[in-house]
Amino acid sequence: MRVGALSALLWVAAAGARAVAPRSDHPYIRPSGDDRRSPCPGLNTMANHGYLPRDGKNLDLAMLVKAQHEVFNLAVDLATGIATLGLALCGTDGVLNLDDLDAHEKMEHDSSLTRADASTGDDHTINPEIVHQVLSFSSDGVVMTWDDFARARAAREASLFGGRLNLSNKTAAAAEAVFSHNLFLDASGRGARLDFLRTWYLEERLPDGWVAPIQEQSLERTQTEAATFIALVDTYRYRQ
Ligand code: HEM
Repeated sequence: MRVGALSALLWVAAAGARAVAPRSDHPYIRPSGDDRRSPCPGLNTMANHGYLPRDGKNLDLAMLVKAQHEVFNLAVDLATGIATLGLALCGTDGVLNLDDLDAHEKMEHDSSLTRADASTGDDHTINPEIVHQVLSFSSDGVVMTWDDFARARAAREASLFGGRLNLSNKTAAAAEAVFSHNLFLDASGRGARLDFLRTWYLEERLPDGWVAPIQEQSLERTQTEAATFIALVDTYRYRQ
């Protein structure tokens, strides 16, 4: 491991209390030229704000872990787990470019919340129609509750041939819904704010007025919540 990478990991390990870089130091700038982006709104947002290299190239484990912790308060165990998986499945020699993550059926899967399926020829670009369709499942037009996300996921999966994701894709999709819900929760805790989600999903930008949750999103919590979420999605699937 390079010295820079090691010191960044040590920084994260020592950062029991989070050190969040001021947002003013990290303006939102859309990608341009040869900048690379992924099918992941989380990673793209971090690159668009410069918490990851803005060109989206040559990202290593330490950069990925540090940014996830610093920006979204993902616990180091969870951030390390996702980054390690991404590097192992889509990277080369311990680094990846964000568009390497487009590879279908590595981490990228069908029935996404913001993108079309790979079979359409574009699993990479934000698809506003799909985003609006997903967010239309909000029952009050203000937040997306667990239940709203579960109905939205069941609807996305219903359009699949056979109506099913395999278990690993189902688990990934559930974790992605958990992130969307927990990281953009409204003050009452009822659900994720629609205005925040609209900005995040469509512009891959940190919404004005948004702050990361105080409670870390740990690996164990994500696993538990994803399992509960999958069971909820299944109750809606069987009703269709
Ligand atoms: C190194 C860390 C990460 C890697 C390698 C990664 C990778 C990916 C990939 C490949 C997808 C595409 C799945 C699909 O086909 O829908 C994805 C989707 C997603 N990711 Fe990440 N991700 C990372 C971190 C994050 C973080 C920190 C967040 C939350 C802030 C996040 C939130 C999401 C969400 C919500 C989706 C679903 C998008 C959709 O369904 O259209 N990810 N991620």
